[in-house]
Amino acid sequence: MANLFSDVLFDESKTRALVEQYGSPMLLLDCEKLADQYRQLSAALPGVGLFYAVKAFPHAAIVNTLDRLGAGFDIASTGEINLLRKQKVNPRKTIHTHPIKKDKDIRDALRFGCSTFVVDNLAEIAKFRKYAHRVGLLLRVAFRSPDCSVDLSKKFGCSPEEVPAMLKAANELGLHVKGLSFHVGSQSTSPGTHVAAIEACSRLIEEYEVPIRILDIGGGFPVDYDHGGDIDIQTFCAPIRAALARLPEHVEVIAEPGRYLIAPAAASITTVVGKAMRGDQPWYYLDDGVYGMFSGRIYDHARYPLHVFRTGPTSPSAVVGPTCDSIDVIEEALELPELEVGDLVVGRMMGAYTAATASTFNSLPIPRIVVFNEPGRD
Ligand SMILES: Cc1ncc(COP(=O)(O)O)c(C=O)c1O
Repeated sequence: MANLFSDVLFDESKTRALVEQYGSPMLLLDCEKLADQYRQLSAALPGVGLFYAVKAFPHAAIVNTLDRLGAGFDIASTGEINLLRKQKVNPRKTIHTHPIKKDKDIRDALRFGCSTFVVDNLAEIAKFRKYAHRVGLLLRVAFRSPDCSVDLSKKFGCSPEEVPAMLKAANELGLHVKGLSFHVGSQSTSPGTHVAAIEACSRLIEEYEVPIRILDIGGGFPVDYDHGGDIDIQTFCAPIRAALARLPEHVEVIAEPGRYLIAPAAASITTVVGKAMRGDQPWYYLDDGVYGMFSGRIYDHARYPLHVFRTGPTSPSAVVGPTCDSIDVIEEALELPELEVGDLVVGRMMGAYTAATASTFNSLPIPRIVVFNEPGRD
């Protein structure tokens, strides 16, 4: 099929044809774009094993596409494990990265065949005592992430100063810490945070003379929400490549990208179902909003590039969802031409943390996901 995003979704009649076939609202997932994103990041980080962060968009077609390309998978729950099991993913290509787990989570992952787990505190390390002979641990270290739209360093990760105590505790329990990991935070706007974290980990590896084999540099690789275009990931990763080249030779590097791989591979189509003047501003009511595919507007602090097919003079307009809640606002003052009930609104960069966090509030169904270009399915 033609390029879904550049040829189809900028063409009103083709977009309407999709709505006639599949209904509105819908989320379109293009596996070819996903594969392209995977190839781009692999080329930008040569030698780095990429483990897709399933949480960003847990979907069978995504798992299938990435599995065929040789990706590994970053999992954080039994639900994600079940998805991978269904797709017959080799468990040796998985790492469990949730720093806090119930014993059942650990048992489920072990039963699946995943043996690499992330820890970041003494209580978590102690949970692995009874599985000591079956697991390898990655110790997650926190680095502050002022440049990221989602800073994860408050909630997870030990401080660099705590690393020796963690390593000692693991050692005393007979546990094998095979690596360090970090996550600089999601949608990192500058590679400097990755570089500083890599350099800090490198110092820790040398300082403590631990036989650390793996450095997991997490996710955080950004996408272009402002324009919906492709970012130059080669250039973004250049300083990261340089920092990785300075690591001791025996260190294997892996990463857990979510957003960069999947955000550009999905687009939404919604319909204007109502309009009103409130104050001096038009309000357009769509058939999906922040309780649905646009949930990342709240949880992920993301603003998605929206496209309409009308032209003409524009004015600041509110674009809102269909629920009865006043928080259900996608855009408060977006420059738009006058829209009519029945018009279509296309959202881009809609793959990461969108459908993954959608709910059925107001008993509205989660929009249909329509998959295009899945390998082995055409
Ligand atoms: C542990 C972990 N790994 C990977 C990711 C994916 O990060 P990103 O989508 O920024 O690439 C996340 C996101 O929250 C995460 O928590």
